[in-house]
Amino acid sequence: MMTDALVKKAARDLCASRNVAALTGAGISVESGIPPFRGKGGVWEKFDPMEYAHIDAFMRNPEKVWKVFLKELNEVVQKASPNAAHMGLSRLEALGFLKTVITQNVDGLHQAAGNTDVIEFHGTFARHRCLECSRTYPAAELNFSRIPPRCECGGILRPECVFFGEMIPPHLLWRSEQIASTCDILLVVGTSAIVQPAATLPVIAKHSGAKVIEINAEPTALTDSVSTYCILGKAGEIMSGIIRELEASM
Ligand code: APR
Repeated sequence: MMTDALVKKAARDLCASRNVAALTGAGISVESGIPPFRGKGGVWEKFDPMEYAHIDAFMRNPEKVWKVFLKELNEVVQKASPNAAHMGLSRLEALGFLKTVITQNVDGLHQAAGNTDVIEFHGTFARHRCLECSRTYPAAELNFSRIPPRCECGGILRPECVFFGEMIPPHLLWRSEQIASTCDILLVVGTSAIVQPAATLPVIAKHSGAKVIEINAEPTALTDSVSTYCILGKAGEIMSGIIRELEASM
């Protein structure tokens, strides 16, 4: 089916449900200037995740991980603002269709766009925690011109994200699985669906009888096996198209 037809179909499907959830990944923030991890221009082309995003590597040498990797990513994230795809999901909530966004992103852009129930599956860069005394600071209160950023006690701060080798907070995992198994539609936007356990959520949704509508720049591991259908293209354009169709038909 052509993209326009799929956009119309997605608008019709969404319009028929009041129990929609979304799972988002780095691809939804690409149009906000934040690079993805995989695919074209992906962060992991430049950096080895085991050297810069694994908790053991961070704890071995937090200065190095901050200077080489986190500094730049944190700067990009702190100055980004929501794009048309985030705004589309926010509109979908305001219209009464979308209930919860489960995001793998640490950029806070869904909340900035206005979504009120956002599960930050991989944590956030909006807060940082001291490795020594565990005091936490909102990123807005920190001065990142000195890297690594430090606590008042002198300890090095870490972002409150989930590094490789760390557990997803169990209450977030539990709630996300509940949502995946009870929603009518799971919109899966901008994720390569490679990293577990997030990648299992669309599988849970499908096996629980939900439609899985995928929006991605390229086909993923889900496209042929799990997704009910996949709309290929930029998340911002596709989401804007869906919202336009949906509002026209209401
Ligand atoms: N619109 C839609 N999709 C896009 C766009 C765009 N403008 N740009 C890129 N994409 C797609 C890519 O083709 C890719 O399939 O988004 C996907 C992004 O995949 P990843 O970079 O792997 O991001 P994600 O799935 O969120 O990664 C999961 O991996 O390293 C970790 O912890 C990190 O949370 C992250 C996790």
